[in-house]
Amino acid sequence: MRSLLFVPGDSERKLAKGSTSGADVVIVDLEDSVAPASKPAARALAHGFIANLQRGLGPKIYVRVNDLSTGLTDEDLAVVVKARPDGIMLPKCNSAADVVQLAAMLRVHEAENGLDDGATEIVGIMTETPFGVLSASTYRVSCPRLAGLTWGAEDLSAAIGAMATREGNGRYTDVFRLARTLTILAASAVEVAAIDTVFVNFRDSEGLRLECAEAARDGFTGKLAIHPDQVPLINEAFTPSGDAIEQAKAIVRAFAEAGNPGVVGLDGQMYDRPHLRRAERLLARAATAGML
Ligand code: COA
Ligand code: MG
Repeated sequence: MRSLLFVPGDSERKLAKGSTSGADVVIVDLEDSVAPASKPAARALAHGFIANLQRGLGPKIYVRVNDLSTGLTDEDLAVVVKARPDGIMLPKCNSAADVVQLAAMLRVHEAENGLDDGATEIVGIMTETPFGVLSASTYRVSCPRLAGLTWGAEDLSAAIGAMATREGNGRYTDVFRLARTLTILAASAVEVAAIDTVFVNFRDSEGLRLECAEAARDGFTGKLAIHPDQVPLINEAFTPSGDAIEQAKAIVRAFAEAGNPGVVGLDGQMYDRPHLRRAERLLARAATAGML
């Protein structure tokens, strides 16, 4: 999951465009990009779109449902799970308990539609409420469906009454940097994908490139997109480079050839177990991206 492109669920045109965008995941949105009056129509459109897609070749399909406090989540699921999406994105998670609650709801809908228990993955947006940020450590008790964690700044900013999310130079202010950092830590603590939030200025490709580079450096393995033009840049930034793959292979080989010790020397550098683990993770991501 390098690029995850949001597509408003009430736009037939964008849904069609999203599926050929090259994104690893298309997220059909039923939440913030759909006006309240359009929710029923968006659900039906989302269902038709997902049910008619040829699966297996193109992107994974997720649906962002309305959050648990709206009372709309179960109605969203009742319509879309029938179409067998690969996953559900849950906004405004207050803690892992919300993910567990969604999992219980999914279980019922899967049973009703003849799907395997656990067939539908979950990605949680874990920083859109203040309590959500403070609950980052609860994801330790989460569930096997959880495939990734991501974060959002806009709803959190509204909730705390911040006047901006970024400094003049584009750097997120402290509260949002904390939310971002906790997402990396929570995702890696439970070994799920850490997905960076959206970059809303969709004409600024240089800004996006910089933000992707920082995200990849800091441990994110993918990023949310809001416009098809962002997808190739995101895919490029989160695909391990040829050099990085060769380096990782050399590290893995050095450990194997030395009989799997605690530490090896390679080209005048010391590598110990954390380096091996990092190399293995990079190779796993390269394999998923079709680079091996
Ligand atoms: N998914 C699929 N197609 C999209 C798209 C998206 N997220 N964003 C734009 N497109 C399409 C447009 O429909 C247009 O297609 P067309 O040439 O066939 O008409 C083309 O890409 C170029 O779009 P552009 O004119 O550059 O942008 P726009 O003004 O039409 O749309 C936004 C700008 C921000 C409204 C649009 O990108 C969007 O809806 N993004 C997703 C918003 C969202 O889901 N938000 C929730 C998560 S934060
Ligand atoms: Mg939102």
